[in-house]
Amino acid sequence: MPVDDQIMKELKSYLNSNKERFLEELLDILRIPSVSADPKYKNDVRVMAEKTAEHLKKAGADNVEVVDTDGHPIVYGEKFVSHKAPTVLVYGHYDVQPADPLELWESPPFEPVIKKTKIHPQGAIFARGSCDDKGQFFMHVKAFEAMLQTENLPCNVKFMIEGEEEVGSKHLEKFCRDNRKKLACDVVLISDTSIIDNETPSLTVGLRGLCYMEVEVTGPNRDLHSGVYGGAVANPVNILCDMISSLHDKKRRITIDGFYDDVQKVSSKERKMMNQAPFDEKVYKKDLKIGDTLGETGYTTIERTGIRPTLDVNGIWGGYTGEGAKTVLPSKAFAKISMRLVPDQDPKKIEKLFQKHFDKIAPKSVSVKVNAHHGGYPVVVPTDSVEYKAAEKAMEQAFGKKPLPQRGGGSIPIVAMFDQVLNAKSILMGFGLDSDDIHSPNEHYGLFNFYKGIETIPFFYSFYAQMKK
Ligand code: BES
Ligand code: MN
Ligand code: MN
Repeated sequence: MPVDDQIMKELKSYLNSNKERFLEELLDILRIPSVSADPKYKNDVRVMAEKTAEHLKKAGADNVEVVDTDGHPIVYGEKFVSHKAPTVLVYGHYDVQPADPLELWESPPFEPVIKKTKIHPQGAIFARGSCDDKGQFFMHVKAFEAMLQTENLPCNVKFMIEGEEEVGSKHLEKFCRDNRKKLACDVVLISDTSIIDNETPSLTVGLRGLCYMEVEVTGPNRDLHSGVYGGAVANPVNILCDMISSLHDKKRRITIDGFYDDVQKVSSKERKMMNQAPFDEKVYKKDLKIGDTLGETGYTTIERTGIRPTLDVNGIWGGYTGEGAKTVLPSKAFAKISMRLVPDQDPKKIEKLFQKHFDKIAPKSVSVKVNAHHGGYPVVVPTDSVEYKAAEKAMEQAFGKKPLPQRGGGSIPIVAMFDQVLNAKSILMGFGLDSDDIHSPNEHYGLFNFYKGIETIPFFYSFYAQMKK
């Protein structure tokens, strides 16, 4: 089933003649520091929402609105073409992670620059949000513009671009529940994940879930002199470290009772397949400047990040951390601990197991408080659907190679909610690379990836409209 040559020629020529403008527009939105986590940027987040709405309008979307929530706004827009055509709901996020540590950026995070790298010989845009997710949701706006302007939009489209993904999408669920009819669709299309590399396209067929906890350990009622009291009174930092180190056993399995109970067993056939994806452990180690990898015994690096659950300390603090040395036995210690979950683990259940486990291992000499932050359910994308097949064909058309199905290690908690609330499956067609340093200093997004995405998306619409008939 070929794509209509004439239409594709028109599209290609539209993309070619507007290439520079597309890039300028992206650079422009990358200058807005829409950091959702930090209240200091609340207004910038709003400015970014307004700007996104403006872009949707200019591209030709109807009924564009910036919807207020109790948090950051949601941007909506749509284009109806025919009752006979399928409806694609494009989801993305315009908010970004905080940029710190600032001193590790080679150029300021909100002043995008284009630089060539080994992996991106054609150049990459360096800026916070370039890959996650402004550069990626913007490909959809531009692909939509191109399809509309060349009179080749074969599907109905709805855009829902939110501003709270990086802080757990707190208000999106309510918006979806309140607007089920308005958001009704045949598929949710998302570009917020990665491909294996620029020569090896892939479609993400799984995301890990998340359970994020905070632990507070209290020892004595005040900070003490570590000489006068040390050795006789429990030091909460020491105790917290003991407890954390007991969370993994020698095989680097997580020791929380019942933690693995609901983990789906992946067949050896599927494991064999996933390990055939191109991956060079040596290059991986060299890139990260590590002497070795470390993880659960019996699993490869691909498996450890794709099909196995994990537990990581994201931050730990307490006592004196300023200049020089202060002798103190601190009263309190804290840690933020996240667990990545796989099908069929339930974040609510894991939360309870974690709490129970800490109650069990805490010595009497301290008191422990455990609180939960946001979480999310893991996701598996079926590969036998029309939607997946259309995405597969679109990537094959654009890259000249069939994409490999790949499980992603990250989380997009809202994807499971789309399934539950909107009764719609998602297609995870991201174009980033794992080495693009999302959430890190010097985040970047390849120009190749940006343009390739804009080229691939209309193929998806075209194949999907044909195949869904
Ligand atoms: N786009 C990422 C998720 C991602 C990245 C999935 C790469 C697969 C490959 C998303 O913006 C993200 O960072 N999600 C958070 C979870 C959220 C609750 C803060 C994550 O995975 O840590
Ligand atoms: Mn993202
Ligand atoms: Mn992110």
